[in-house]
Amino acid sequence: MSKQEVIICEELVGNLTQAIEKCPHDKLFILTDEHTHRLCLPQLNNIPALEGAEEITIGAEDVHKTLETLASVWTFLSQHGASRHSLLINLGGGMVTDLGGFAAATFKRGIAYINIPTTLLAMVDASVGGKTGINFNGLKNEIGAFAPAVSVLLETEFLRSLDAHNFFSGYAEMLKHGLISTPEHLNELLAFDTDRIDYALLKAMVGRSVQVKENIVEQDPHEHGIRKALNLGHTVGHAFESLALAEDRPVLHGYAVAWGIVCELYLSHIKADFPKDRMRQTIQFIKENYGSFSFSCKQYDQLYELMKHDKKNTAGVINFTLLKNVGDICLNQTANKDTIFEMFDFYRECMGV
Ligand code: GLY
Repeated sequence: MSKQEVIICEELVGNLTQAIEKCPHDKLFILTDEHTHRLCLPQLNNIPALEGAEEITIGAEDVHKTLETLASVWTFLSQHGASRHSLLINLGGGMVTDLGGFAAATFKRGIAYINIPTTLLAMVDASVGGKTGINFNGLKNEIGAFAPAVSVLLETEFLRSLDAHNFFSGYAEMLKHGLISTPEHLNELLAFDTDRIDYALLKAMVGRSVQVKENIVEQDPHEHGIRKALNLGHTVGHAFESLALAEDRPVLHGYAVAWGIVCELYLSHIKADFPKDRMRQTIQFIKENYGSFSFSCKQYDQLYELMKHDKKNTAGVINFTLLKNVGDICLNQTANKDTIFEMFDFYRECMGV
């Protein structure tokens, strides 16, 4: 997989112009959703390199990450003269960069694309690393391809208008990057004043966070080994997300990951001796900023079944990424049902649910 260029923008207009110039193309398309069409696209007005670009606008949020929406993008490209030499720019959150990336990966067997993520979650995770796809038959990201963007432009000025929930959703993936990288990076994340956001510091931290992901993806783009480190918190997190959805009380992905991190740090502690003080410190931050996801002991079996069906498993064995310490990663860990139920007990007790 070719390496993608990730740029922390000093000036979006100039950075985007350069990125477009690097991709010779016959036609240019911009994919937006109904929010980024209104709030973000106007900030790209008057860029000569965008002259003549055709806009494709799709519905916002995960409910639109479907085959129907994907087909509508293919249809638009087809009907507006896109060729194999056309270029697509995805302007939006993770839903737009995932779906747009997959549309680009598949149209005429693959056209070049540029990501401009507009949410924190998309900046530090979804838009970087080449995973693209759509939801299918009720399963998240069931159909997709590894296909990196040519360039990813991170314009953190977009974050100034992000609501608190979406801020914390992205921040959970940053916490994950802190836990799998260095004590210094984790410490700065835990000390960050989320009530009075210092946007210059946030920009620097986003840069360091993305670097953690880039380093890992470069070593293992197709997730055969070390890329599984990025799944920390996700084995339990996805089960929480699915349970919440099934009970019609959906939660943002990053919130589920944060609560998943609480559980998986406990497993890390009991199975790999992850230091208790570090576990408590991280859990405290999550408890203060994310609240908690409530469930009763009657739902343990359901959560366990959801975990057994996670696509990260092999032959139905639940696969965890755990930690011996910050940055000291243990891949391909398992836990039996009793230990997993004990983990849920711990979660409910320490989160007060
Ligand atoms: N979101 C985890 C990964 O890109 O591998």
